[in-house]
Amino acid sequence: MKKFLIVANWKLNGNLNFIDKNINLIKKINNLLHYCKIAIAPPYVYIYYLHNYLKNTSINLVAQNIDIHEKGSFTGEISINMLKDIGVKYVIIGHSERRINHYENNNFIAKKFILTKKNGLIPILCIGETKEEKKQNKTEKICINQINSILKICEVNIFYNTIIAYEPIWAIGSGKIANINEIEKTINFIKKYISSINQKISESIIFQYGGSIDKDNINNLFQIKNINGLLVGKASLTIENFISLVKKAEKKMSLLRS
Ligand code: 13P
Repeated sequence: MKKFLIVANWKLNGNLNFIDKNINLIKKINNLLHYCKIAIAPPYVYIYYLHNYLKNTSINLVAQNIDIHEKGSFTGEISINMLKDIGVKYVIIGHSERRINHYENNNFIAKKFILTKKNGLIPILCIGETKEEKKQNKTEKICINQINSILKICEVNIFYNTIIAYEPIWAIGSGKIANINEIEKTINFIKKYISSINQKISESIIFQYGGSIDKDNINNLFQIKNINGLLVGKASLTIENFISLVKKAEKKMSLLRS
């Protein structure tokens, strides 16, 4: 069975001092894990620095973004081969902060997803609705559109062994996780949808939840059967909070899986 994957998305936060101060504590907790595993998504400039810290550990590196070009005259961009070169395993694709602040649309995100997967890294596709869309009962439609933008240009096999993170946009940074029943309903719906095309592919996908997770609210998330990971923003920036969250996840998973 796949380990429960906890990704720390540092977003535009952290510095060398933060890494030097905290990384050994994260390594220490990682050594105690059997049912969970940790991956870290630092800002680009710190990936290689972290790579040196993490090379003999099972903690994986995650990139927060990728360019759609493999090389060439694209000032300011980072390519898939560069990420592979420095040991990155996962790439976050289509985070709502990129969709909103950098005007990334579904088609552009689909290209990044396909490029990442075809080059042997694992895309973490972020999907989710705005507050307004939720009010209009459009959650499922929005999520399926985001997935269909990939299926429009590629076979369903592209989803094999990938990650889909359901991150309702209105829950991110709000301090409140989404309603457990609603998270479950949405994830089940997405899983069923992919299963209706190809069950084996659907079974291979890890589904994560993201949006205001912290040590005090994660226990409820384990009631959701189809979740096999978390995408954690703010709570990953305070080491005590992150470690406590990881410990709780490990404890819950050990109860559920043993
Ligand atoms: P917060 O945990 O800060 O709400 O962020 C979630 C997120 O966007 C992870 O990718």
